Parts: sequence; structure tokens; C-alpha cells
Amino acid sequence: MIQAIVRRCALRLMTQSLDKTPHQDPKLLQFALRDGTQVLLRAVICDDRERIQNGMAALSSESRYFRFFTSATRLSDQQLRYFSEVDQQSHVAWIALDSSDPKHPGLGIARFTRTNEEPTVAEMAFVVIDAYQHRGLGTILLAVLYLMAEARRIQVLRAIVLGENTKVSDWLCSLGAAGSYERGEYRLDLTVHRDRALLPRTPAGENFRRAIEAVQPAIRRMDVSS
Ligand SMILES: CC(C)(COP(=O)(O)OP(=O)(O)OC[C@H]1O[C@@H](n2cnc3c(N)ncnc32)[C@H](O)[C@@H]1OP(=O)(O)O)[C@@H](O)C(=O)NCCC(=O)NCCS
Repeated sequence: MIQAIVRRCALRLMTQSLDKTPHQDPKLLQFALRDGTQVLLRAVICDDRERIQNGMAALSSESRYFRFFTSATRLSDQQLRYFSEVDQQSHVAWIALDSSDPKHPGLGIARFTRTNEEPTVAEMAFVVIDAYQHRGLGTILLAVLYLMAEARRIQVLRAIVLGENTKVSDWLCSLGAAGSYERGEYRLDLTVHRDRALLPRTPAGENFRRAIEAVQPAIRRMDVSS
């Protein structure tokens, strides 16, 4: 497994050096946020380590705490390796990039990992840098995770959310997630419905459904060809 990831990393680094523009690169998706800002989306690659560390620096202390449950301001080498060396099967991760900057800094990242105990359940986590929050990017990233989960026969995306992070717990509940609260944390399970009509008819549910419909054709095309 590790050898396969290392081989894939080397291949991706070679592919990256081809210097493609976003429109030429079939693995880069371009989307408009609710305010019209254009962002790029793609699967995480090994070369994203520095981008992920820089993204950590662009987060407020509250967002860092809500995402990582600690006050640490930097990710360790071990964490960076874990976050960037993903197989896109049991550990799926996607990153959103700033399309207006040639270096394409990271704007947000979302991932899930299949749990050992229940292979149809995956634990997910996501974060968007503060300057880009509340513009629909979190919804797009969650839509990507949802579709990737569906393609990998994962039935439940589970989020562990701190009790004080009511913005996120309320949001996930308005998408139909349900769960329990223990020792200051919510454990919220979002069922992956193949039939989108089962998503709740809340405003957030409608936004989520629209985001899924917008990203679905590109994600399916890209996932099948990868
Ligand atoms: C969770 C997070 C990724 C959402 O990113 P985002 O880009 O703001 O997401 P969206 O703009 O798509 O908003 C998603 C929902 O969050 C809620 N929300 C976002 N910003 C909000 C704000 N300022 N006030 C109230 N609700 C807000 C809304 O319910 C919104 O859904 P809606 O617009 O359909 O009503 C972002 O808030 C974040 O990075 N938080 C810190 C890390 C974290 O808590 N991660 C989750 C635990 S792993």
C-alpha cells in the first residue's frame, strides 16, 4: 500500500511539472462561489504539503481549534504526510485553490477516512480559510465528499464536531445529519442518499442539493478516468 502511494506521488509530481493551465488540466475543476469568485478544485496530491501548511497559517485560531481540537498553529511532518499522502479510496481528500493566484494557494480542504470497524462508515473533516467562509465553498467541498463517498459505497459520513461549534452542528443537522452528544463533542452521521429527493427541504438542504448537481458530472468523469 505504501509503495503504491509513493509510486503515485512520483507520477503526480511528474504530471504536475507539465505546467498545464486549469482549463487544459482535466483533473482541475473550476467553480463559482455564490458571490461569483472562481475557485479550482482537485484531489489532494503529495505535493500539497506546503500548501496545506500555509492554509493552516491562514486560519483564525477559532477555525483551527474547531478543525483540529487543539491550539497548535502548525501541522507536524507526520500530520502533513498523513494529510497529503492519500489513496483516494479509503482516504479521500480534495482541496480548493485560489484560481486568481498563479501559485494556487489552498482555500479549503475536505477529507474522509473509512473506519476500520464499519467499512460503510467514513469519518469526515473539512475546513475553509476564514476569508473565504460563508460564500458556499464548504457546501461545494461537502458535495464532493458526498459524491466520492457514494462512488466508494460509503453509506454514512460521520463528523465529530465540538459542542461550541454550533454553526457546523446546526448546518449538518439541517442537511439531515443526526447523532449523539458526549463529553463536549457531537458525533453526527450524514446518510449518503443515492436518491437526492431524500435530502431535507431546508434552505441549506436545497443549497446542498444544487451543489451536488453542479459538481456531479465533473466528479464522475474525473473519478472514472483516474
Ligand atoms: C465548516 C466550514 C468548512 C464551512 O465552510 P463555509 O465555506 O463557510 O461553508 P458555506 O459557506 O457553504 O456554509 C455552509 C453552512 O454553514 C453555515 N454558516 C457558514 N457561515 C456562517 C456564518 N457566518 N453564520 C452562520 N452560519 C454560517 C450555514 O448554515 C451555511 O449553510 P447555508 O449557507 O446553506 O445556510 C467553515 O465554517 C470552517 O472551516 N469552520 C472551521 C472548521 C470546522 O469547524 N470544521 C468542521 C469540523 S471538522
